[in-house]
Amino acid sequence: MEPVPIVLGVGGGIAAYKAAELARALMERGCTVETVMTAAAQEFVQPLTFAALTGRKVITSMFGARTADEVLASSVEHIAVAQRNRLLVVAPATAHLLAQFAHGLAGDFLTTLHLAFQGRVVLCPAMNTAMWDHPATQENLATLRRRGALVVEPEAGELACGTVGVGRLADPERIAAFVLSALETRRDLEGETVLVTAGPTREPLDPVRFISNRSSGKMGYAIAEAAAARGANVILVSGPVNLTPPEGVKLVQVQTAIEMYDAVMEHMDSAAIIVKTAAVADYHIADVPAQKVKKTAMRLSLELDPTPDILAELGRRKKDQLLIGFAAETENMVAEARRKLKSKNCDMVVGNLVSHPDGVGFESDDNEVVLVTRGGETLALPLASKREIAGQILDHALKLRLALHAGKA
Ligand code: CTP
Repeated sequence: MEPVPIVLGVGGGIAAYKAAELARALMERGCTVETVMTAAAQEFVQPLTFAALTGRKVITSMFGARTADEVLASSVEHIAVAQRNRLLVVAPATAHLLAQFAHGLAGDFLTTLHLAFQGRVVLCPAMNTAMWDHPATQENLATLRRRGALVVEPEAGELACGTVGVGRLADPERIAAFVLSALETRRDLEGETVLVTAGPTREPLDPVRFISNRSSGKMGYAIAEAAAARGANVILVSGPVNLTPPEGVKLVQVQTAIEMYDAVMEHMDSAAIIVKTAAVADYHIADVPAQKVKKTAMRLSLELDPTPDILAELGRRKKDQLLIGFAAETENMVAEARRKLKSKNCDMVVGNLVSHPDGVGFESDDNEVVLVTRGGETLALPLASKREIAGQILDHALKLRLALHAGKA
């Protein structure tokens, strides 16, 4: 996949340091990031931070050049930057920057770039609540929205000025996901409901202990994010994970396999595509003791009962839905994926080796998977980020659905 060139404009606010997290989150999603900092932004964060993170020179002024040739080159640099990037994201967008953008001012590099920019513009405001609520700010935003700018609204919370209210820069992960969805031109899941399960489950042993596994939820969250960007209504049934849910998805949080089973069965009828990424615990204690189990000198064995197999039950109940399962294996991956495809009546199973020598698998950002389909196809996808793999899984799912409907698979 070609990297997507993004230009990140950093305004002068306390939240400027979070723009560094945004740069990283965008790069994790396969973007290249070119940074432009206002003079005020440089009072909060050093340009070196962005240069080191993005591996690129950071633009800090309009006329930083020394020689005549450099002056000539830099005098048109804002045009070149505008032309070579697909999207301009401004974070934090201060009240002052919004006012300058709304009035078409072009007094420094970022505002000049904004005027010259013909691609998508995403504004991420952050400021004190009173400044945010001020009619001047709201009118400037309305003007910018009318002209096509997209806005990631600030969040409510405790602000640097000590007050509590709306004005905190949106979470960088949320902004990055929004940027990607703004760039996604395919709307091939528009109006469809996609049900995704993600993460591990936790099976209590007593009120303070549980059995779980190493699933991070990253693969499932990447699928939910990719499906939402392509227009789907996404229901994300998630076990306990440490991830920000993608913008616009309906999140259903669960802990145990039984809770996941109930949530999935409740939503299965509305879904056109079901992706069972979750690493569901296969065993649990049916009657969890009400009190903490006390230590003794004796050996302790646990008596475990099987949990319901959610995917197998979906396979039994499914009507028209496209059902996609996962098979996390430490050996015989393709054979196991094919066995699970048949025994659980799936349309596709995504097999991945969780004993990869490079640590790829459960906790990593990358994955290397094999798709096996109902039609008998086996397709190896090369090592890539979980976000890229997510897009490819959806591409193949849609192709498979077409083939199944045409009766060819
Ligand atoms: N799965 C499920 N409910 C369970 C166990 C697994 O829905 N109780 C689903 C997973 O979400 C995944 C698929 O079944 O999509 C395969 O999970 P995996 O753990 O690889 O397979 P198991 O059937 O548990 O078989 P084994 O552990 O023996 O490999």
